[in-house]
Order: sequence, then structure tokens, then C-alpha cells
Amino acid sequence: MNYFIKTYGCQMNIHESEKVAKILEDLGYISTNDIELADIIAFNTCCIRETAESKIKGHIGELKRLKQLNPKLIIVIFGCMTQQTSVASLVAKRFSYVDIVIGTTNLHLLKDKILAIKPKKQIIDVDECSAHPELNSSRTSYPNAWVNIIYGCNNFCSYCIVPYVRGREHSRNKLDIINEVKQLIDEGYKEITLLGQNVNSYGNDLQDGSNFADLLAEIATLDGHFRLRFMTSHPKDLSQKVIDTIAKYPKICHSVHLPVQSGSDEVLRKMNRRYTRQHYIDLVNSIKSTISNVGLSSDIMVGFPGETEQDFLDTLDLVRQVRLTSCFCFVYSRRKGTLANDMVQVPQAIKTDRIKRLIETQNQITKEISKTYEGNTYEVLIEDTNTRFVDTYCGRTDCGKLVNVKSKVNLIGEFIKVKIKKSQSATLWGEIL
Ligand code: 5AD
Ligand code: SF4
Repeated sequence: MNYFIKTYGCQMNIHESEKVAKILEDLGYISTNDIELADIIAFNTCCIRETAESKIKGHIGELKRLKQLNPKLIIVIFGCMTQQTSVASLVAKRFSYVDIVIGTTNLHLLKDKILAIKPKKQIIDVDECSAHPELNSSRTSYPNAWVNIIYGCNNFCSYCIVPYVRGREHSRNKLDIINEVKQLIDEGYKEITLLGQNVNSYGNDLQDGSNFADLLAEIATLDGHFRLRFMTSHPKDLSQKVIDTIAKYPKICHSVHLPVQSGSDEVLRKMNRRYTRQHYIDLVNSIKSTISNVGLSSDIMVGFPGETEQDFLDTLDLVRQVRLTSCFCFVYSRRKGTLANDMVQVPQAIKTDRIKRLIETQNQITKEISKTYEGNTYEVLIEDTNTRFVDTYCGRTDCGKLVNVKSKVNLIGEFIKVKIKKSQSATLWGEIL
């Protein structure tokens, strides 16, 4: 019996799919990359933007053909999309051949739901569950291992659906995290990435003095040759203590993902981000002066309700000032139930024009920064093959820059010294020393 999991969305979802994979393997299923051969198909959904949601709905629609070919096929829909108010029942109605729709807080019940399946009877369970049992994973991301440290979000940025579909912040017990990381290092993982919507809030809900900086320090002093990364940070919560900790411990990568969203104070206020443009610039300056050769990345959105041309120019100006190594650029998307959904919207044509200008501006900066790597030598952890080229492997520098190298032998999981020969927009090409 084969299972096929399709994952949409962020790193949290990628890791959550590893947990679902483990549940399915415990039930006797084996992974397949061919959806046509699957006996159970599970879609891990995302709803951060409308584009993601409509794409997923289209793909669920395509499953009807497979169900008709094989009536015994089990179809499971889980993840953020299912947890939105009334979406689960909508999905269930529109796609009557879906067997299970399960929410984000009750995945631990999936095994029992699968065992309880009866022909032509849908199971829908999106009730919020506060038990939070940690699930084991069948990992697919070697040499990296994802480790959740905090679930949910309390911030309620006015554009964002996440707090509604992932619930309130809930930190994992520190000892459990440390034990998981120790085991992963013993198993040979070379990079640990700590995950949370806002990792800087780690410990706030535990009331035992736990905090993110101490957690980082404790993991960074464990034995073994590994790298430590984390995401995502919130500019209002990233403390100087965390910045100093990153600089202090060699195992912590010199890489910070710090979404700014906008360079306009008025837009930041309406977004409920609770920091100013100047605060972000000061933070970036502090990060750059404390952490050597730091890779700084961000998320920026254009077309937030009420964003004027001047607000947008302020964003472009901030982008030129802070000179990010890379940036994910998004067009604001209306999400039902969020505060920004009821604000006056920016016309689509203006959004399209602004995203183009933002991407052009950032691309130029990315290219200029990439050029500065040429001729230098870096330690690269090789993560994967680059299938677009023959005998090519790719990995990252400590600061998160993607590097391609040629090799006839498998290097995945190796730390190698690489001299950068050529830069191509965001990507570097190097020679193994
Ligand atoms: N529209 C567009 N982008 C969004 N993001 C979050 N919500 C929305 C939305 N409604 C972006 C933010 C966030 C990233 C993960 O997704 O930039 O940092
Ligand atoms: Fe969404 Fe803001 Fe929470 Fe990030 S911090 S998940 S953008 S509400």
C-alpha cells in the first residue's frame, strides 16, 4: 500500500507532512512519488494567500478522476486551509469524494480517523484541540532536520490568517526540544532548523523563565558537528540578547530572516506590526554590526489596503537602505476574517505595477551582494543534487547563500570548502577545494 503526500506552503507545513508520513508508515503504507500509484493521498494545505488556496482547490478537483479509477483510494485534506471558518464543510461538500478533512490541532487523531473510514462516509474533524501532543516524524529533508519549538501566533497582524488557523502561541517544553535535537545529531543530521511563526516569543507562555536566546545557547553548546538555524523572527521581539547569542556561538548560522512587510510607518501601523521603520533600520544596523558576514532576508508585501504611492516609495527606499541578501515579495491578498479584509483595497493594476518595481529593486541588490562573494572561500553544507545540471550538487554557506558545485561523488550531508568562481543573481557557482 502506497501513500502520496502533497505539501503546499511554508516550512512548518513541510515538517508537518513529515509527521503525517510517520502516521501513514506506522499504518503500513510506503511512500511513492507517483500519485497514480497511491492508495492514500494526503494534501497538506495552505491559505496564506488566495492564490495558494485556489490552486489547491483545483488540485483537489483533479483527484476525482483517481477516485473514480480506484474507489478504494483514501483522500485526506489537512493543514491551514481546512481550519478556516466554514471552509472544511465547503470543501467536503464541493469535493464529496474526499474521505477525511482534518484540522491543524487534531492531527494526532488522524490514525484513528483512517481506521474508522467507511465507504461513502466523510469524516470531518476541525474542532480545536488543546492537547498538543508532539508527533514523531518520518524525515525527508536530510541533512537538515526541522524542529518545532513554538506553535501558533498571538500577533494578529491585520492581513494575516495564521492566528485564526493555528491558534494561540504554545511553546514546547525545553527539555523535549533539547532531547529531540540530541537524537537528531546522534542520527547524523548536520543542520537543525528551529521552527515557529515567531520564534522570539519562545517561552513566554511557559512561565518557567525559558526564552529563545537561552534555548539557542543551550542547543549551540551540544556536542557534534552541526549548524543551527531558526525561523521566523518578528522585528518587535528580536532582542539584542538573541543577536549577541547568534554572534557568540559558532554553531549558530549567521543568517536572520526578519520580515519587515513595509517601509511606511502608516502602513506598519495599519498592519498592527507594532514597530516603526526606524526601529527596523536600527535593528538591521545592530545585526550587521554584531554578526559578521550576516545573511539577512525578509518578507515584504505590496498593495496593503490604503498603501499610497508614497508609502510604496518608502518601502523601496527602505529596501535600498537595508540591502537584504534576499527577500520574498508578495502581493497583499484579502483573507476573510482578518481586519484588513474590511479596509479600502488597492486596485489590482497598482499592486501588479508595485510588485514588479519591488522585485526589480531587490533583484539588483541581490545581484550586487552575490558579486561580493566571488573569489572568497566558504564552508558549504551540501544539501541536495541540482537536477537541472549534470553532476551538480547544491548547498548553503553559513549565511544562507545557495552554492552549486560540480562533483561526480555524492556529497549530500558533507561540509566542504568551496571557492566561489561566479555569481548569478541569487545563486553562486563554486569549485571544491
Ligand atoms: N497577503 C499577502 N502576503 C501575506 N503574508 C501573510 N499574509 C499575507 C496576505 N494576506 C506574507 C507575509 C508573511 C509571509 C509568510 O506571507 O509577508 O511574512
Ligand atoms: Fe501572521 Fe503576523 Fe503572526 Fe507572522 S507574526 S504569523 S505575519 S500574524
